[in-house]
Amino acid sequence: MTKNVVVTGANRGLGLEYCKQFLEKGYKVYACCRAPESAEDLLKLKQQNSQKLETVPLDVTNPTQRMNLKYTLQGDQIDILVNNAGIYGHRLNFGDVESEEWHKVMEVNTIAPLLLVQELVDLMPQGAKVVLMTSKMGSIADNSSGGSYIYRSTKAALNAVGKSLALDLSGKGVSVAICHPGWVQTDMGGPNALIDTKTSVKGLINVLEALGPENTGQFFNYDGAVIPW
Ligand SMILES: NC(=O)c1ccc[n+]([C@@H]2O[C@H](COP(=O)([O-])OP(=O)(O)OC[C@H]3O[C@@H](n4cnc5c(N)ncnc54)[C@H](OP(=O)(O)O)[C@@H]3O)[C@@H](O)[C@H]2O)c1
Repeated sequence: MTKNVVVTGANRGLGLEYCKQFLEKGYKVYACCRAPESAEDLLKLKQQNSQKLETVPLDVTNPTQRMNLKYTLQGDQIDILVNNAGIYGHRLNFGDVESEEWHKVMEVNTIAPLLLVQELVDLMPQGAKVVLMTSKMGSIADNSSGGSYIYRSTKAALNAVGKSLALDLSGKGVSVAICHPGWVQTDMGGPNALIDTKTSVKGLINVLEALGPENTGQFFNYDGAVIPW
């Protein structure tokens, strides 16, 4: 039976690469993004994979669109949910941090991924997997340079969400991976980043393939190493 994967933030960067690699592996891909009609690279991929890729309009902070995603799935099961959409927010240094921006980033990076899992969990069979795309910048143990209050705190909070999710969903047989993709050449990572999206996502899918009840709820690097909280 064909397996289904849902990817958020699928129009560019790591999300788009996840779509490509899951298609190569024979998955049906529900590629969610804010503006599918103008997502050129995703539309090209859809032309080449019309039966296997469905685009879905989804701003992850929009409850109506999250519900519509559930209707679009029409009872199809979700084998893998990749909560990939994320933002860095304005680069505000100590002294300039303000709450409106912080709330906005928290909505996208921390709150929306949990709400999406809550809303879709009924469609996840035993053996399903949830990926939370976090960052090493959310590791408190790894923080040796300070700053980045907003991004760091929203990803650290996402890590806490992931740990609780792993425990709460273990009875249902759903596993959770909290994943750092490396420093990757995307709009967010910038051109000087160390690895390309292909390398990162190849590693992340290997991590996912090795994910199960015995290692659910861990904070993984894209190469499979476990990162300290
Ligand atoms: N690149 C890195 O080095 C790096 C390192 C650590 C962690 N990460 C994490 O990896 C994930 C993907 O990053 P990336 O490098 O691919 O970033 P990116 O190139 O900036 O892409 C971000 C994606 O998230 C989407 N997005 C933002 N806000 C959204 C919203 N409200 N609803 C739906 N989609 C939204 C964007 O859609 P639009 O095009 O509509 O804006 C875009 O598709 C993020 O969670 C990021 O924090 C990346």
